[in-house]
Amino acid sequence: MFITLEGPEGSGKTTVSNIIANRLEKLGYKVIQTREPGGTPIAEAIRNIILDKKNTNLDPRAEALLYAASRRQHLIEKIWPAIHEGKIVICDRYLDSSLAYQGGARNLGVDNVLSINMFATEGTLPDLTLLFDIAPEIGLSRINANSNREVNRLDLEKLDFHKKVRETFLNLAKQNPNRYVVINADNTLEEVVEMAWNEIKKKLGF
Ligand code: TYD
Repeated sequence: MFITLEGPEGSGKTTVSNIIANRLEKLGYKVIQTREPGGTPIAEAIRNIILDKKNTNLDPRAEALLYAASRRQHLIEKIWPAIHEGKIVICDRYLDSSLAYQGGARNLGVDNVLSINMFATEGTLPDLTLLFDIAPEIGLSRINANSNREVNRLDLEKLDFHKKVRETFLNLAKQNPNRYVVINADNTLEEVVEMAWNEIKKKLGF
């Protein structure tokens, strides 16, 4: 089972991931939690290039290719082996982030970005994608209030960019109703956790 969590910065997806992984483990499931970009040493090295605030002149297509390269390495070294061993993989961001950020917000086109990602992943799509949807104004104000999280190059984009990210995610959810579930993340953390948990229970059939 391959579950991905998507949504903007400040939507609470990482906290929800920790709680859900914990609950699944208590029920006896073998779970791995991972994140993109990154998840393995090579992929983390690529992450550092992409998110470095100094790299202001990183070209949008180069950015999309780096995300796809890091994704492939992550699949090979971590995700595919875990799925093969029957584990539940919970991944904080995956290919849909590239479609929303690079395809939508950076205007590279969702179809173009999908095609390089199909090459990178050999068509590996999640069984379930939870989209934590929240207005970017609220998400961004939550990050600013959280002094523990370092601000990265993508966070520094203007509000319009984050609005396009949201719009693209919502379109993707509409077009892929069999694997996408939209969760209203403008609720208390407890409520968001319960909504996500219900979807996972449904998918796992208990
Ligand atoms: P990260 O610090 O992991 O952010 P978050 O806590 O919001 O998940 O940074 C990842 C950033 O990279 C985030 O701004 C989204 C962006 N991103 C893309 O633009 N394309 C991608 O394919 C992925 C995986 C992430």
